[in-house]
Amino acid sequence: MPEQPLLVTDRLHLRPFALSDAAHVQALAGERAIAETTLLIPPPYGDGVAETWIATHQPQFRDGRLVNYAITLRPDGHLIGAVGLVIVRVHDRAELGYWIGTRWWNRGFATEAARAIIRYGFDDLGLHRIEAEHFARNPASGRVMLKCGMRYEGRSLQAVKKWGIYEDIDRYGLIHP
Ligand SMILES: CC(C)(COP(=O)(O)OP(=O)(O)OC[C@H]1O[C@@H](n2cnc3c(N)ncnc32)[C@H](O)[C@@H]1OP(=O)(O)O)[C@@H](O)C(=O)NCCC(=O)NCCS
Repeated sequence: MPEQPLLVTDRLHLRPFALSDAAHVQALAGERAIAETTLLIPPPYGDGVAETWIATHQPQFRDGRLVNYAITLRPDGHLIGAVGLVIVRVHDRAELGYWIGTRWWNRGFATEAARAIIRYGFDDLGLHRIEAEHFARNPASGRVMLKCGMRYEGRSLQAVKKWGIYEDIDRYGLIHP
């Protein structure tokens, strides 16, 4: 597997995370608004969580199971979020996920980053299908998926338990064009 390439868009550089990003990740992903609409981000986001998370990226990339990118602003390289694909190679399929620090919401950054990683997934990783899902109460994420060309595939009722409450999940998919 070749090295994880940099992805460049109009306003963003997507690059692999480094351990030196950990404090910044902790500050951004540690905001409760991020944990509220994601499944795997814990509140509180304790010391060491970011380091552990970042350390999994390269081994899993080499195994072909994961590609995660730090979303950074051009030209100064300021870290504002994360975007990734969890790959199921046997099906040439991946699940897209992302978060953006709250102060950069609603400026199109998640969409711009997601479009870039989708292109990379299809063109370079040879994926056939990319899918994504969000809590039904998180329509902003659904907008990102639609703006990336994904198709709404339906709602799974009470499919996950989040903080003790069963929640509906909206699902989207995109087939290699
Ligand atoms: C979801 C998230 C990644 C969106 O990031 P972002 O950079 O603000 O996304 P974009 O600016 O590209 O697009 C957001 C869209 O949602 C829309 N939106 C925002 N709040 C909304 C709401 N309450 N209802 C409906 N649409 C909403 C925006 O208007 C925009 O759509 P538009 O371009 O058609 O106007 C960000 O809110 C986030 O990190 N949330 C917490 C983590 C999370 O939920 N991750 C996704 C898990 S599935």
